[in-house]
Amino acid sequence: MCGIVGYLGEGNVYDVLVKGLHRLEYRGYDSAGIALVNPNGNINIYKTMGKVDNLEKFCQDKDLKALAGIAHTRWATHGEPSDNNAHPHFSDDGEIALVHNGTIENYKLLKDALIQHGCQFHSETDTEVLVQLIEYVKLTNKCSLLDAVREALKQVIGAYAIAVIEKNNPDTIIAARKSSPLVIGIGEDATFLASDATPIVEYTKNVVYLKDEEVAVIRRGKPLKLVNLDNEETNIDVTTLKLSISQLEKGGYPHFMLKEIFEQPSTLRDCIRGRVVEDGKRIMLNGVNDNKERFLKAKRVVFVACGTSWHAALLGKYLIQDMCHLPVEVEYASEFRYSNPVLDEHDIVIAISQSGETADTLAAIKMARKAGSFVYGISNVVGSSIPRETHSGTYIHVGPEIGVASTKAFTGQVMVLTMLALSIAQLKNTLPQEKINELGKYILQIPDLVEQVLKLNEKIERLSLIYTYARNFLYLGRGYSYPVALEGALKLKEISYIHAEGYPAAEMKHGPIALIDEEMPSVIIAPKDHLYDKIVNNVQQVKARGGNIIAIVTEGDKVIKNIADHVLEVPEMPECLTPIISSIPLQLLSYYIAINKGKNVDMPRNLAKSVTVE
Ligand code: G6P
Repeated sequence: MCGIVGYLGEGNVYDVLVKGLHRLEYRGYDSAGIALVNPNGNINIYKTMGKVDNLEKFCQDKDLKALAGIAHTRWATHGEPSDNNAHPHFSDDGEIALVHNGTIENYKLLKDALIQHGCQFHSETDTEVLVQLIEYVKLTNKCSLLDAVREALKQVIGAYAIAVIEKNNPDTIIAARKSSPLVIGIGEDATFLASDATPIVEYTKNVVYLKDEEVAVIRRGKPLKLVNLDNEETNIDVTTLKLSISQLEKGGYPHFMLKEIFEQPSTLRDCIRGRVVEDGKRIMLNGVNDNKERFLKAKRVVFVACGTSWHAALLGKYLIQDMCHLPVEVEYASEFRYSNPVLDEHDIVIAISQSGETADTLAAIKMARKAGSFVYGISNVVGSSIPRETHSGTYIHVGPEIGVASTKAFTGQVMVLTMLALSIAQLKNTLPQEKINELGKYILQIPDLVEQVLKLNEKIERLSLIYTYARNFLYLGRGYSYPVALEGALKLKEISYIHAEGYPAAEMKHGPIALIDEEMPSVIIAPKDHLYDKIVNNVQQVKARGGNIIAIVTEGDKVIKNIADHVLEVPEMPECLTPIISSIPLQLLSYYIAINKGKNVDMPRNLAKSVTVE
């Protein structure tokens, strides 16, 4: 995680860097810092604990003149959040400054060796090892900064995206990456670098996504140069960004999370556009159409994902099993990669990741490719690592998601999974055409139905006041509503810090039922589906033990309305399409409970949106 920014060009360097840090704050926000090379050839480093706002306050009376600079917003891995551990880090002689996103696995070994050579360390970070190593190589080999960076990186095991500047050279920034993302923006008389394109888009649409072990040489007045670690020049592929600035702003909402919840009718329209055609009769996913043979010969599907994306994957299992008659497994990428998974060329491994950068998911993809499996990616961020590492895939196209708690990306992922299951079913003939037509037609209505569900907003805001001070919550669901329960519980704990457990409703009697009393509310997702009668029993079991119940039910439901304390009604849908609709009220409930508690919903403590470390 962590976000890095760099800028070399005309105008106010500090302003460009700080604005960029604000855009990257979703990647971590326990401390922030900036290094500026000023016209006298000195480097000023300013860094402090807390969010980027703090850094701005800290810098108010500082010398901010600069010709180039690098900056960082941190999510601590090695060393607690502190002023000292914040980036940028200086080399021992103060000649070189560096920012880093990633983890250096062999840092201890390198650090011990450097200490033996007389190096003194000033922080507990793995990053400081990098900058000291670069300095050591530079002094020992009497070489340029570029050569020192290349040689140092050859000794490093781990993940890095780095930007490096040196004293007396305000005309150069060296940047490099391996397994952590880095984008270079090419402006008319300026060059930018950042962990993603969001700090760059307002200045230029021309970007270059650095590849693993590529080093960028950014020089004033000279074209960008890319080399590999052996100093051989590599190709520069310039991509045009489709992102717009308005997508990165709150657009009148108090928080990104609320904006993103309310954007869902339009993000789902974007997600479906051109993919459900002929009035719902055909599902067109290029990723499937271009790889028909791989899907036809598949004997099994294995999902790998983390966090909210894992909940979407669980829904993918229900969808593919129901529609395509294929066995499906769902794995946490972090467990999968260390579990000696048995894979072969008949497996389709589907990796789901909003950011496209999650380290564990990327590692799982690499293993699957090695085993000969066909790897399919479902991501949001165009040009991110996962779409580039997979054989094929589908973007969810929901636009930048900035709130750390995922909302519109989750519904986009579930939408893509529904279309994916339908297009495989179409290909394999495992669903009657009438069923495909019926579901296709419903899919086209989903954006309007989500709009209708969002009208529950005020009711949910009022309801949230009753439960703000509950200390524990239980979320229950069965079948397609079970992953929705897991996701609802995750949303609540992420942003309100209330303990919440998602559970399969029928499993409740094997443990969680013991927790139920008048102080432990249960949120029960109970739409009219083939398990409806069963979940009515579960609702009764909770009530019989004095529990308070908030139930998500299908419009017109009378039975549960008579038992539950509160009901939130959602439109009737075919069972497999209910998750998108029923997850919306749960997003709003978490949002309002967290707001009532005065929490920072967009940047919850300890979390980061993009987890690029193990
Ligand atoms: C972090 C985020 C979650 C996200 C998870 C997986 O924990 O806070 O919102 O679901 O990472 O991220 P990915 O980008 O792979 O979907």
